[in-house]
Amino acid sequence: MKKLLITGGAGFIGSHVVRLFVEKYPDYHIFNLDTLTYAGNLENLKDIENKDNYTFIKGDITDAEHMNTLFAEHVFDGVIHLAAESHVDRSISDPLAFIKTNILGTVNLLNAAKTVWKDQMDQHLFYHISTDEVYGSLGETGLFTETTAYDPRSPYSSSKASSDHLVRAYHHTYGMQVVISNCSNNYGPNQFPEKLIPLSINNIKNNKPIPIYGKGENIRDWLYVLDHARAIDLIYHKGKNGETYNIGGINEWTNIDLIHKLCEVMDTKLGRAKGESAKLITFVKDRAGHDLRYAIDSSKLMNELGWEPSLQFEEGIEKTVDWYLANEEWLNNIISGDYENYYQKQYSER
Ligand code: NAD
Ligand code: TYD
Repeated sequence: MKKLLITGGAGFIGSHVVRLFVEKYPDYHIFNLDTLTYAGNLENLKDIENKDNYTFIKGDITDAEHMNTLFAEHVFDGVIHLAAESHVDRSISDPLAFIKTNILGTVNLLNAAKTVWKDQMDQHLFYHISTDEVYGSLGETGLFTETTAYDPRSPYSSSKASSDHLVRAYHHTYGMQVVISNCSNNYGPNQFPEKLIPLSINNIKNNKPIPIYGKGENIRDWLYVLDHARAIDLIYHKGKNGETYNIGGINEWTNIDLIHKLCEVMDTKLGRAKGESAKLITFVKDRAGHDLRYAIDSSKLMNELGWEPSLQFEEGIEKTVDWYLANEEWLNNIISGDYENYYQKQYSER
């Protein structure tokens, strides 16, 4: 049985990746390593937590000693590394937390892997999950490709860029087999309601203002989270050693247009008069250093590995709204902070 370590598996994207691998690959044992920060929620995985090929490990990637012990104990065949501090606004108010987890944490994993994989580097793979934000900000035209020069502009994107470089350095210096993917903005079920789409869904539902930074003219390229998880599966199994793959939704929206679309869907789902939810739109002070536009050219992934996004945005956003409306308890537990007790309740007696 192959042993695969997925870090950050209790978070938004990680939980979808863990589920996909646990269900699709019964011959893999999936270890989900997560320290359960405010963003880590084991309720995301309650449908698979008792599967035989799944183990949750509570651990912090900034704890080098624990990482070394863990890798020595299990000798993982591969690692898919998603654990990170992930929100730009938080990185503006607390950059150091991002340096610690995203840079030091990644180096701890690389070191632990290097120590136990050293004589058999060709038998193991370190797959680092990154973001398109490392490429900086686009003007009105153009797309990020895998050869676009790095130009990160927020503490978050700088910390991710740094970890990407370190992963490449371990490939070139120590011969570690690595792949990296840089993905655009994800949306879908289980996203923490601090990010634009779930925050807005929650506020619309509760008749609270929808805060739009600046004039809402910033552009993001949105991808449904399961399409990202499918791309990760493909890249883990078929990606070429040392390569980078960009993943994007071919789906650019200004924030204001996206929120108007979301308001329309919410009006229909909540039985409100057309235009009712949009009245909640409130323009607020812009984010410091707010990147204008992100957009990804995914042609390498599409042409070389045969990936393509499966969902149109209209379908994806409807599915997302349906999920949040059907999972009120999940949302309420997060907002009240009760989700943090799930680990104690479910795991303390195991
Ligand atoms: P998230 O914030 O929802 O989840 C992050 C997870 O990492 C949480 O479960 C958290 O508990 C865990 N974690 C944080 N610090 C840790 C530590 N020190 N040790 C162990 N676990 C820790 O993030 P997400 O949106 O699911 O993003 C996952 C990855 O994908 C990140 O690396 C992020 O940079 C990348 N990414 C995200 C997006 C996006 O739109 N969300 C887009 C491209 C790339
Ligand atoms: P976010 O979901 O935080 O992702 P990222 O900063 O990684 O792109 O934000 C998406 C876009 O929405 C970004 O341009 C900032 C903007 N935004 C708002 O206008 N209001 C909000 O309350 C939030 C959280 C984001």
